[in-house]
Amino acid sequence: MTNPTPTAQLIAQRQAKHSLPRDLYCSETTYRDDLEMIWYREWLFAGPAAELPKTGSFTTMQVGEYPVIVTRGADGRVRAFHNVCRHRGQRLCATASGTNPKLVCPYHQWTYDLDGKLIFARDMGPDFDPSKYGLKPVHCVDIAGLIFICLAKIPPPINEMAAQIMRYVGPHGLKDARIAHSSTIVERGNWKLVIENNRECYHCGGSHPSLCRTYSDDPSMTAMEGPDSASPEIIDHWKRCEGADLPSRFVHHPQMQWRLARIPLLNHAESYTLSGKAAVRQRMGTVPFADAGALLFFNYPNTWNHFLADHSVVFRVVPIGPTETQVTTHWLVHKDAVEGVDYDLADLTHVWMHTNDEDRIVVEENQAGILSPAYEPGPYSTLQEEGVIQFTDWYCATMAERLGPQTMAAE
Ligand code: FES
Ligand SMILES: [Fe+2]
Repeated sequence: MTNPTPTAQLIAQRQAKHSLPRDLYCSETTYRDDLEMIWYREWLFAGPAAELPKTGSFTTMQVGEYPVIVTRGADGRVRAFHNVCRHRGQRLCATASGTNPKLVCPYHQWTYDLDGKLIFARDMGPDFDPSKYGLKPVHCVDIAGLIFICLAKIPPPINEMAAQIMRYVGPHGLKDARIAHSSTIVERGNWKLVIENNRECYHCGGSHPSLCRTYSDDPSMTAMEGPDSASPEIIDHWKRCEGADLPSRFVHHPQMQWRLARIPLLNHAESYTLSGKAAVRQRMGTVPFADAGALLFFNYPNTWNHFLADHSVVFRVVPIGPTETQVTTHWLVHKDAVEGVDYDLADLTHVWMHTNDEDRIVVEENQAGILSPAYEPGPYSTLQEEGVIQFTDWYCATMAERLGPQTMAAE
């Protein structure tokens, strides 16, 4: 006999096209289920390769219980490891990012090469075999300058998404990019509220005055719903860009776990600036014109991105607890662009620094309302919130499938 888990029960009872039942946004049980069923199994965006510009550059991330370190080896390859010493388990690296020629444990100085091999362990005796104590690897791929990791033993297929990222993001030249600015904020809201908020622009007019100068809040202009709902203007934009060898049409995973589509900005704006003019003098990669708009890419559960002619903005979402989520943003520019000469940092970052903070506020207020026992799931707008419907459908279908075979003890 099998009994559905509390999370599976709530998912089975949920009303289609409605926000989720309260506990899915705040209970410890669902948070654990989300980690086990999604975060420990899916490919996760770790950061841009530009964060690891040289041998020994590293970045760390905490995914639920797993501390992970991502580092660039002497051979140029990016690898990920469990950030856990093989001696007595010390976390090897406590800082968010930096550069180390080797990975040295702070506790007793066991030293690992950048490929994970244990190369030094003091006074371990003649029988000690260092080859048995290399760092445990985590799956890691660099796709056109975007690094993804996966904690699963056998990761899900990534080939189709990787091929499309190469085609679409490749021309944006992330391999020749550097980080102009990074920001990490904590939002006091469940990770699903952070993603839901990102998947609609129903709230943009009320929340994002600076973004709305250049980014349309009309869902047919941002292809939120799918290729069939695209406006004539966006279709013209696709023709123009693809005529110049810039892949642009809406492509997506069958269950919409990921999507790529290029959208025009308002009034041929060139960038997310208050003036609509490019923020950076150098164009990135091989983007053929300044008003190529924004290539939008998301992948559930943890990233959305905007690639423009003059810069790119990439976002990483990581849950910290049932009602706490970390959002890290990097602004990428051409590697030769010099701050104060080729761009002004405030001009480059103004729109998304403000937009992130405005989103943080709506997510936190959303969570505060949902924590009330008076909350009940409300209807999504099918005209404005199709992206949220797609996300919650993907989440519920994925969880139901994975929780399904789980059983609770029965006599
Ligand atoms: S725990 Fe790392 S060297 Fe001892
Ligand atoms: Fe927003």
